[in-house]
Amino acid sequence: MAPIRKGEYMIQTNSQSSARLNLQHYWVKESLGYLLHPDIPVPENAKVADIATGTGIWPVSFSRLPAVPSTVQIDGFDITDAMFPPPDWLPSNVSLRTLDILQPVPDELKGQYDVVCIRYFGVLIRNNDPEFVLRNLVDLLKPGGYIQWMESDIYNQTVVKSTHSALYGVTTTLEQHLPSWRQYLDSSELRYDWLKTLPTICKSIGMSEAKLYTPKIFPAMRFTASYAVLGAWEELSYKFLDERPDKFLGSGPELREKIDGFRREVAQGAALDLGFYVTVARK
Ligand SMILES: C[S@@+](CC[C@H](N)C(=O)[O-])C[C@H]1O[C@@H](n2cnc3c(N)ncnc32)[C@H](O)[C@@H]1O
Repeated sequence: MAPIRKGEYMIQTNSQSSARLNLQHYWVKESLGYLLHPDIPVPENAKVADIATGTGIWPVSFSRLPAVPSTVQIDGFDITDAMFPPPDWLPSNVSLRTLDILQPVPDELKGQYDVVCIRYFGVLIRNNDPEFVLRNLVDLLKPGGYIQWMESDIYNQTVVKSTHSALYGVTTTLEQHLPSWRQYLDSSELRYDWLKTLPTICKSIGMSEAKLYTPKIFPAMRFTASYAVLGAWEELSYKFLDERPDKFLGSGPELREKIDGFRREVAQGAALDLGFYVTVARK
């Protein structure tokens, strides 16, 4: 049986995860320079959805942009409300509610949105096949509406080292670990090749103007991004490996001990490098 079963979310949804996701939002925003790609128009009375919203940080942050008037309604959806701020702490044009995007979209949400965003949902996509989720996203859109799907390729992440680091030219334990990480993802049918073909898949289901953008992480954010990834691995170790040790990643305590070492290497100037894949397409 796959280490991560179909439909299972590999990380947690607790206070650590909330802090990590909001930190992730920060380095992603600094790297991309936008929350919504400038190709996507936002009419004055637009309805915008953010799917798998986590803490709701994208809707909250988007609502605060000077270019987004308070007449724009922004709805965040997630399978769980565990990380949502209370409704009375949200901006008046932001709402958060639960929705399982792996299930067919409820009739009352069909065709409601001008823009549908999804970010960091790749951990739920199996066998390189995002089409089912994509069709659900498209169901939410009005005719002529846009999707933005943003991911980082966590399968093909690499290690970079500062030329000022004592680790420059040295093979780190973090580098040595990456093949086991890939084997773990492989055994869970979690591949990220679909990120490159998503625009083609969009076109194959009748969408237009499909384009892929591949910005790079802003180098000054590499430490922050690396600590966030290591935090996610730690969450995975608690969520799955304590009960289900894995032949590639080992037991929870074993992986956590390695992560302590990876953190020391990051502090010395080694970092995980992750590319971004942003697909924009129109219904
Ligand atoms: C890596 S987090 C990304 C959160 C947010 N998009 C962001 O970028 O900050 C993935 C989110 O997907 C949610 N999730 C998992 N399975 C889901 C499902 N079937 N439908 C909707 N959301 C789901 C998790 O609860 C989690 O909040």
